[in-house]
Amino acid sequence: MALLELQNITKVYHLGDVEVNALAGISLSIEEKEYVSIMGPSGSGKSTLLNIIGCLDLPSSGTYRLNHKHVESMSDADLSITRNSMIGFVFQGFHLLSNLSALGNVELPLIYRGIPSNQRKDLSKEALKKVGLEDRTMHHPTQLSGGQQQRVAIARSLVTNPKLILADEPTGALDSHTGESIMHLFQELNEELGVTIIQVTHDAKVSEYGKKTFHMMDGKILKVEAHI
Ligand SMILES: Nc1ncnc2c1ncn2[C@@H]1O[C@H](COP(=O)(O)OP(=O)(O)O)[C@@H](O)[C@H]1O
Ligand SMILES: [Mg+2]
Repeated sequence: MALLELQNITKVYHLGDVEVNALAGISLSIEEKEYVSIMGPSGSGKSTLLNIIGCLDLPSSGTYRLNHKHVESMSDADLSITRNSMIGFVFQGFHLLSNLSALGNVELPLIYRGIPSNQRKDLSKEALKKVGLEDRTMHHPTQLSGGQQQRVAIARSLVTNPKLILADEPTGALDSHTGESIMHLFQELNEELGVTIIQVTHDAKVSEYGKKTFHMMDGKILKVEAHI
């Protein structure tokens, strides 16, 4: 059975009297250990879709089953447990705390989980090693390049051992060469650790690192393209 399955998902935003149909009936399913891309022009609904997949937001209608559970019938507590236990998030702007070291940033999700300090440090060092930053653990974000900052953010998303990583324009703030190295890292995490990855991008080259691309337009999926 698929890791996640969306059926006829819509999302309507109300801005005063104006209704914005951000998602207009999205149906898709993604298997465990898949690596897929979502591509489309600005405003086509990519971030809205990713936020719903990540249980950061709820759809206006439709059904969403994640890991065999119906998301629309979850309480807020269930939603945050689901997010914290099985999903890692990576963003275009890295979202690191500037007053903490790389290690301190990676430790954060473990602090929320109440993991003791020694164990936290060990797990965080291990995650930083997976992204190739074992020699930068005490550096602060301003002392790291953009690509290195994104690696720290990826280590932070990995440290809780999530089944699923959701990345919204993960290479959007990086030059193309650095972006490529982040894509190689995703491929490695997908192939070697079996992490399911869903990435949003508007760059066709970046989308090809996934095994398939969902093309979006006006809140709908226009077509699904397989990459060989
Ligand atoms: N919080 C919000 N309130 C109102 N409209 C929104 C909100 N978030 C997104 N939208 C609108 O929904 C549509 C899809 O947005 P978004 O998912 O951010 O697109 P993308 O990530 O593809 O650029 C856009 O028309 C956008 O203006
Ligand atoms: Mg977006």
